[in-house]
Amino acid sequence: MNKIKLIYEGKAKKVYETDDPSLAIFEYKDSLTAFNAQKKDTMQGKGRLTNLISATFLKLLQDKGIPTHFVKLLDDNHQLVKRLKIIPLEVVVRNTSTGSLCKRLGVEEGLDLVPPLVEFYLKNDELGDPLVTEDHIRAFGFASKPHVEKMKELCLKVNEILSKYLFERGIKLVDFKLEFGMDDEGNIFVADEISPDTCRFWDLTSKERLDKDRFRKDLGNVLEAYEEIWRRIADWDKSCSAEYRANILVYLKEGVLDTQGKAVLSSLHSLGYDEVKNVRVGKYIKITLTSPSQEDAASRVKEMCEDLLVNDLIEEYSFELEEI
Ligand code: TMP
Ligand code: ASP
Repeated sequence: MNKIKLIYEGKAKKVYETDDPSLAIFEYKDSLTAFNAQKKDTMQGKGRLTNLISATFLKLLQDKGIPTHFVKLLDDNHQLVKRLKIIPLEVVVRNTSTGSLCKRLGVEEGLDLVPPLVEFYLKNDELGDPLVTEDHIRAFGFASKPHVEKMKELCLKVNEILSKYLFERGIKLVDFKLEFGMDDEGNIFVADEISPDTCRFWDLTSKERLDKDRFRKDLGNVLEAYEEIWRRIADWDKSCSAEYRANILVYLKEGVLDTQGKAVLSSLHSLGYDEVKNVRVGKYIKITLTSPSQEDAASRVKEMCEDLLVNDLIEEYSFELEEI
């Protein structure tokens, strides 16, 4: 897949057209901005980290059934995504009070927000991305009511999945921002990125900030914090991966003519094995794979069968998994 033409350049990314009109390439840049780009810097290697972290989160969400624009990681700074019509809203989910919430409402930092808050902001740099209510969204047609409901539902699911995933790695998901896009049929997908640029991550025990607040507040060691997030994700995945062997049997559905089976039956009869009444010939496929759990491995193997290994019009399959 090749970059054909630059379609958009944002503060942290470039978006390119590809030879497939339904797909785009995101290039993550090394630039870092805050306060609507009033504060800017460049950090070599930052684009790689936001690209890898974002790809990991989007893939995780996808595996858990959340529709996202992510297609695949291309290299350290690029990922392939679905080309969508972006809804002009930034949706923020907050589990703990901090940032603009505390400034706006004068509330204490660090309060647990149960249930989490979901807020909508209008994507408009000139206006500084103002907070909008659902009535504003409806009145000015920024998004339809069913889409607002869907975005809220997806935000809360994403929050549950990411909070758990990060908690297991010693990280508290304090808050985050999501953007959404629509395909031609009006289906909604999580779009843009999910990274330390767009989330707040606190170390669970020390409460150390491991996100863009280090840049916003001049706390130093910005890149080191992003690297720490990537290290905890990558190391944990490696240490939790086990190797599995899947023994997959693919056979023709009952009622589908099995010419190979018939030929074997007739050869067996000609050799004198008259007791054989029926023969069905199938395929046996052995796959070894790594996966964080037996459950994940089973769901991946099922996907492989449905995507490639089995022709579901005429074939059926079953498989067994064993940890190696
Ligand atoms: P806030 O407290 O500054 O409103 O930020 C809430 C969350 O949204 C935080 O995780 C950072 C993220 N965010 C962005 O991704 N882009 C933005 O432009 C802003 C203001 C916040
Ligand atoms: N993303 C915004 C900017 O680049 C604001 C922020 O994240 O603080 O200016």
